[in-house]
Amino acid sequence: MSKETVILTGDRPTGRLHIGHYVGSLKRRVELQNEGDFKQMFVFIADAQALTDNIDNPEKVRQNVIEVALDYLAAGLDPEKITIFIQSQIPELCELSFYFMDLVTVSRLQRNPTVKTEIGMRGFESSIPVGFFTYPVSQAADIAAFRATTVPAGEDQKPMIEQATEIVRRFNYIYGDTLTEPNILLPGNAVCCRLPGTDGKAKMSKSLGNCIYLSETAQEVKKKVMSMYTDPLHIHVEDPGHLEGNTVFTYLDAFCKPEHFDAYWPDYKSLDEVKEHYQRGGLGDMKVKKFLNNILQEELEPMRQRRAEFEKDIPAVYEMLRKGCEQARNVAADTLDQVRRAMKINYFDDAELIAEQSRRFAH
Ligand code: TRP
Repeated sequence: MSKETVILTGDRPTGRLHIGHYVGSLKRRVELQNEGDFKQMFVFIADAQALTDNIDNPEKVRQNVIEVALDYLAAGLDPEKITIFIQSQIPELCELSFYFMDLVTVSRLQRNPTVKTEIGMRGFESSIPVGFFTYPVSQAADIAAFRATTVPAGEDQKPMIEQATEIVRRFNYIYGDTLTEPNILLPGNAVCCRLPGTDGKAKMSKSLGNCIYLSETAQEVKKKVMSMYTDPLHIHVEDPGHLEGNTVFTYLDAFCKPEHFDAYWPDYKSLDEVKEHYQRGGLGDMKVKKFLNNILQEELEPMRQRRAEFEKDIPAVYEMLRKGCEQARNVAADTLDQVRRAMKINYFDDAELIAEQSRRFAH
């Protein structure tokens, strides 16, 4: 990071944010924001992208825009330090996407592994909406319009950033150096990349009902932790337990810090000691779950309190978003001016062009 860095990330508003989002990206964004080592930082709600596969469900997207905004504020994102905005309110993004469409081929888009998986998951094989198919192009426009240098995102976004880089490169090659090539910033801790659901299934996902949401009450969180998937072979306390695929331990890997032992479990000095005892046998799931619950509550409680404060004044949250959109639009509009100039479609602000054409048609 440096004073040249422009950080940009976004989330699709298809549900409230959960602790998978938190450890995977949100927490890091708050740290980056507070380190302040950047020129600009943008975090946006990708409602237009969410609509690409929710076109008949606008109400869902609308409801979740405010949920995600509240989750951002609860997690500690601060509109005084960064720009928070809503994608659809920046028409320049549509315009740039339209020009970018010419810089990518259908077969290149078909090879994008993330889109491939998503098409399968949504049962779109025989009828893919064009907008959905081309969302990597629109995502490239999101990134390029703000001249992002740094895109903090999970492994699954890698193909998107690669695609964006290719498009930017191609643009600069054809039209001259105008846009900035982005880099992905992956999460440091591997377990944080893909936190499994409470049922031990591959990924936390709303449709599987295996999420712990940032906005859930302490009781709800506790209930979910206490019924979490562990080791099906660990039936009696004295049985040896297994760590592989044991969700409680995966979560501990993601959330546990050395100081948690003094605070909540002085019988042990480190997570390795707990793991060792569990594997040997003689340590019950309940004790480990209680420990995890204490850790999660400590992390989530300040967020719940901040959320409750922001929920008291929803019009102020919309006003914050409106201002963010205004700021973001100024930046995107500036980039688009340069894009139009580079592409030679700036007919009315180009005195040289008009003079040249006058000479051409002079008798
Ligand atoms: N694709 C991202 C997601 O599914 C959201 C997104 C849209 C995004 N545009 C972006 C992320 C640009 C980073 C940069 O969550």
